[in-house]
Amino acid sequence: MLSFDVLTIFPEIITEATRHSLLGKALAAGSLKIQAHDLRSYTTDKHRKVDDVPYGGGPGMVLKAEPIAKAVEALTSSSGKVRRILLSPRGPLLTQDKAHEFTRYDQLLLICGRYEGVDERVASVVDEELSIGDYVLAGGEFAALVVIDAVSRLLPGVVGDPESVVEESLAKGHLEYPQYTRPQEFRGLTVPEVLLSGDHQAIRRWREEQAKELTECRRPDLLKK
Ligand code: ADE
Repeated sequence: MLSFDVLTIFPEIITEATRHSLLGKALAAGSLKIQAHDLRSYTTDKHRKVDDVPYGGGPGMVLKAEPIAKAVEALTSSSGKVRRILLSPRGPLLTQDKAHEFTRYDQLLLICGRYEGVDERVASVVDEELSIGDYVLAGGEFAALVVIDAVSRLLPGVVGDPESVVEESLAKGHLEYPQYTRPQEFRGLTVPEVLLSGDHQAIRRWREEQAKELTECRRPDLLKK
């Protein structure tokens, strides 16, 4: 079973957000484990200080290396395959392939930085840095949640119908074809005739064409990969 351990100064963000929907159900069913750990519990000073001013000056505060290193050491499981990941806008981008790779671990230790920065020496206690996109978040918590969500739904028993994960577009390098549900006409907009035809081969062909056209038009970079 995959365990996610999230190191953060806001553990409630993680516990609150993972109580609902698919994740909430998977947690209740015991298909995975998610634990949020307060970075402050790994401080040793009276004021439980997790950050300090940057050497060389400049605005903002920098997360200290010592509490993070202590926490990472304490939380790293001694058995199984462990990946220690620092969420940071400086890392390579999360992709669907990477999400699949992460399912092979027994423990993912997700370390949330703050936007002002993290002491560079934290890099010596993690396996990789990871970004969820080319924009800057106030902290790594929402990035950690994105990783948890993307990875969890690939685990056996988390999504009700495993076909829906296998058949999925991005895993195959293209966007999803358009979907429709009832009614047949909505504000003058109708459902493409072929989807009502009952001809499964024709439907499959139409969907493939649509997926290809959509990808060419909106995300040609996916086709190049
Ligand atoms: N922390 C701040 N911005 C981030 C991003 N884009 N990805 C991951 N962690 C972050």
